[in-house]
Amino acid sequence: MAEKATRLGVRLRPHVKTHKCLEAARLQVRGHFGGITVSTLAEAQAFAAGGFGDITYAYTIAPSRVADAVDLARRIDRLSLVLDDADVLAAIEAAAATKGLCLGVFLKVDCGAHRSGVAPDTEDAVALARAIARSSHVELGGLLTHAGQAYRSCNAEEARAAASAERDVLCSLAQRLRAEGVELPELSLGSTPTLCAADDLSGITEVRPGNYAFFDAYQVAIESCALEDVAFSVLATVVGRYPARRTLVLDAGALALSKDAGPTHVDPACGYGLVLSSDGSRRHTSLRVVGLTQEHAELRAAEDADWSAFPVGARLRIVPNHSCLAAALFDRYHVLRRDEVLAEWRPVKGW
Ligand SMILES: Cc1ncc(COP(=O)(O)O)c(C=O)c1O
Repeated sequence: MAEKATRLGVRLRPHVKTHKCLEAARLQVRGHFGGITVSTLAEAQAFAAGGFGDITYAYTIAPSRVADAVDLARRIDRLSLVLDDADVLAAIEAAAATKGLCLGVFLKVDCGAHRSGVAPDTEDAVALARAIARSSHVELGGLLTHAGQAYRSCNAEEARAAASAERDVLCSLAQRLRAEGVELPELSLGSTPTLCAADDLSGITEVRPGNYAFFDAYQVAIESCALEDVAFSVLATVVGRYPARRTLVLDAGALALSKDAGPTHVDPACGYGLVLSSDGSRRHTSLRVVGLTQEHAELRAAEDADWSAFPVGARLRIVPNHSCLAAALFDRYHVLRRDEVLAEWRPVKGW
């Protein structure tokens, strides 16, 4: 991704929400300008303490957290906030004015995910951009979007179309605003599926992919990557075997894998992840994770499964559907080279 950002002529500001740990973020920014994206203020605070000085909190900030953000902004080179609401702008302006600060703010644009962001073709979008640009207590950093809808694509070709749409929505709103004199230093976009597929980001200045640091079963299904590219898995132990019901039970329930339903639009029977051998070298296609309760995973075996390979106590690796969610369930990662544990990394917790 770092090479691709360079090739496409954009700055890489990786989203660290996937792993939430300093060591992984330091690897991601190597050779780039060092900026990162976070999705909680707890991440922002921890990464600031770890030496990251240019942070975008890419989440529409709640007014109750503005004071925390302002406190942090005073301690680092640049903290940028994201908003799509005039009341939030007023709350940020008031807090910044009290502390004598000028805060960087991005206008969040909805490019089709319909989760948050202003609708790009509306007068409201233009009016809010103008209001941010006019303010003396905030500085308009630019426009920011995230093509969450790319997760509904089935393959790389569909993701490439989503990438073009993400770029075009941002560029056309920018053109309209710039035509009336609104300055927009940055146009920032990015999701892992769109950035894996993108081949032209003309007009865009910055990208914020996150999941690519680990990838997962979902990204394999929609062709963002191959299974060999996935860097995150959960090591689990067989705690029950019931050949008569063709069922294995593992000690890795929803609190280990999360309950993300996965890429059911590509494979309705995808279950809750991909099952690998304990060293990660082989996929067990004869096993599917069909059910999860809090600490238990229920695996269904194909008729021809080799039951001698799965005694109670045997270990298996599960590549979860969504590594960002699964990773957030753990208090540490074991960093592996094959079977050797090279390090233990601790993710940030909290909001
Ligand atoms: C605002 C924003 N930017 C960037 C990302 C990174 O997306 P991905 O994890 O698909 O790379 C996310 C992920 O949810 C996001 O919400």
